[in-house]
Amino acid sequence: MATYEEIIHNTIKPHGGELINRVVEGAERERLIEAAQSYKSLTLNPWAISDLELIGIGGFSPLTGFMGEADYIKVVEDTHLENGLVWSIPITLPVTEAEADNLDINDDIALYGEDGELYGTLKLEEKYTYDKEKEAKNVYGTTDEAHPGVKKVYQKGNVYLAGPIQLLNRPKHDEFTDYHLDPAETRQLFHDIGWKTVVGFQTRNPVHRAHEYIQKSALEIVDGLLLNPLVGETKADDIPADVRMESYQAILNNYFPEDRARLVIYPAAMRYAGPREAILHATVRKNYGCTHFIVGRDHAGVGDYYGTYEAQDLISQFEDELDIQILKFEHAFYCKKCGNMATAKTCPHDASEHVHLSGTKVREKLRNGESLPTEFSRPEVAEVLIKGLQQN
Ligand code: ADX
Repeated sequence: MATYEEIIHNTIKPHGGELINRVVEGAERERLIEAAQSYKSLTLNPWAISDLELIGIGGFSPLTGFMGEADYIKVVEDTHLENGLVWSIPITLPVTEAEADNLDINDDIALYGEDGELYGTLKLEEKYTYDKEKEAKNVYGTTDEAHPGVKKVYQKGNVYLAGPIQLLNRPKHDEFTDYHLDPAETRQLFHDIGWKTVVGFQTRNPVHRAHEYIQKSALEIVDGLLLNPLVGETKADDIPADVRMESYQAILNNYFPEDRARLVIYPAAMRYAGPREAILHATVRKNYGCTHFIVGRDHAGVGDYYGTYEAQDLISQFEDELDIQILKFEHAFYCKKCGNMATAKTCPHDASEHVHLSGTKVREKLRNGESLPTEFSRPEVAEVLIKGLQQN
């Protein structure tokens, strides 16, 4: 029988070779919780708490803490960590200058959430200032403050704290308990159900027909699908995670063979960084044990900031180094003349035959209690969304 170590490491290797685990348990956890009472403390916003969790559970392997300045600069300027591994988005802990002045290098710092819960500790190794405009330009491709990710950069404190973390309490995700697995657990799951090849699917939207089409196209060539919706912070007009989670269950229960797909939450915040975020999304799914990852049209995009296939073009440059196979799909739609889902690669008909709905239009219809065309969305999904959005 395979050992735990073999299961979590002998499938696809985690990024950097080792699955990081900074979750402290048992007597050591009790000791640290006690000790943290006398530490200096910081209150982290939900975004930072989700980063803390992802570092702790190994989703962000090989990171063991918030990035120091050398890694930060290399990531922003060169899409790599200092050790040469591809990394596309800074994972940093911003604080105000006043907060930073109060902390000394080598301090152990207790990290609390806005709910007053102690989530972890940080061993402070560095504090550094950074160039917000450069971060915005290089990571998000724009300095426009109307971009939701850039807006966050400009709102953040001016100093980054860096150092290794320990995770003492887990954010609860109470409403998603059945779908809450860590990377070590998804790796175990894939082993137990005998999936050797697994395609990861990132989403912050309900699964509509175009998503389903590309997922099923991928399922023709791999053993299983990890539907891995992002449930951390999103912008206010995105559909809330609890409503989306119900819609994912509706589509999986009605339209996927039971043994070919699994739903697991990805507890991260959405950056809307398009091409750079596609690379992060693929890296993290490799850590969850996926061998393949889908990048479709305008992956992790927002507004008109990125070209339709810019994320695919960028990730192509790093694909060999990333060591997870990227499945790139063209813009998919329902074609009335073909009578099925298609892309420009498979459909010869005029665009007037294609069913298109913008995200804004979809949300507007759902909020008004109107159903969506069946060519766009499965009725079971639309039903859950209408109910969910009217209650929200
Ligand atoms: S994202 O911000 O999480 O990327 P979304 O949930 O809409 O947004 O997309 C999930 C994945 O499906 C992404 O890889 C995206 O590129 C892809 N995708 C979304 N809509 C389409 C479509 N109509 N055709 C092809 N790919 C799509």
